[in-house]
Amino acid sequence: MAAPPRFTAMTADRIPGGLRLCRACGWNQLEEDWRFFLDAPGSGGVVSERAGNILGTAAWIRYGALAWIAMMLVDPAERGAGVGAGLLAEALSSVAHVPCVGLDATPAGEPLYRRFGFEAHSSVIRTKAVVDGALLPGPSGAVRRMVEADLPDIYHWDRKVFGADRSLLLAALFARAPECAWVVGGAARLRGYTFGRPGHLYYQLGPVVAADAATARELAAGCLSRLHGRKVAIDAGAARGEFLGFLQSAGFVEERCFARMYLRGCVPPGVPSAQYAIAGPEFG
Ligand SMILES: CC(C)(COP(=O)(O)OP(=O)(O)OC[C@H]1O[C@@H](n2cnc3c(N)ncnc32)[C@H](O)[C@@H]1OP(=O)(O)O)[C@@H](O)C(=O)NCCC(=O)NCCS
Repeated sequence: MAAPPRFTAMTADRIPGGLRLCRACGWNQLEEDWRFFLDAPGSGGVVSERAGNILGTAAWIRYGALAWIAMMLVDPAERGAGVGAGLLAEALSSVAHVPCVGLDATPAGEPLYRRFGFEAHSSVIRTKAVVDGALLPGPSGAVRRMVEADLPDIYHWDRKVFGADRSLLLAALFARAPECAWVVGGAARLRGYTFGRPGHLYYQLGPVVAADAATARELAAGCLSRLHGRKVAIDAGAARGEFLGFLQSAGFVEERCFARMYLRGCVPPGVPSAQYAIAGPEFG
């Protein structure tokens, strides 16, 4: 009989094992993504291990008064045996002191999260395309590449919109993929911003935060025009119909849905209607 799996901390030397699981399950994360969970203060990860093999992972990020649960992934051959529940219990005990806990659930994960007290808040739709520059509107002139001096204003806005401080994540995204970081406005007249990052299978564009749908469209179009021929995912709020319509016109196809959930319904005090696309289910 196989020895029962044990739970232990995710560490830098276990990242290759975590990534092997990502590759086996068609997930997009790179080493840099796992490193963020290990390096950001108050964040971390846990793995389920048997005889040196990683069978499952979970991670959490601390955004001030909000903790974000991510990377819940169990080897297909080990599912349905309590590994996922064990990982989630470990992750939740690590963030037990944080007022709000959120995550983006796949349909496979949702029943498990409900059992632990998570409640659905909103829906996110994953859209994907191989970018065809010919389908994008011409440059409006309002969108420009982000520069470091934009970041303080962006952090200020983002805290209001997201409802928690994810400035460390935004700084990391800017450092990793400045070619995906765009703004409209600036110098105290900011109207929107977007970040993005490369992944194993596709670029992920987001968050896209904007004062209105037209600005969100301009930001996405500006960034996408530099990604012609690349595969890109954008996870848009299901309630952002006008933005989803734009994505459809740009060739993006709806692939699947995530449920944004919060533990015991504790929702951070943000303005979700201004977030047209999320950073990604693993980052909030
Ligand atoms: C979601 C996932 C992590 C669950 O891991 P797991 O090890 O199979 O979960 P467990 O065995 O601990 O199951 C926990 C409970 O959920 C139930 N469950 C597990 N998968 C289920 C499914 N697909 N549908 C309905 N119930 C399910 C189990 O029966 C169990 O309930 P019980 O304790 O009442 O019997 C795993 O299915 C997975 O890796 N899926 C693919 C990646 C993914 O979608 N991750 C979630 C990201 S948000």
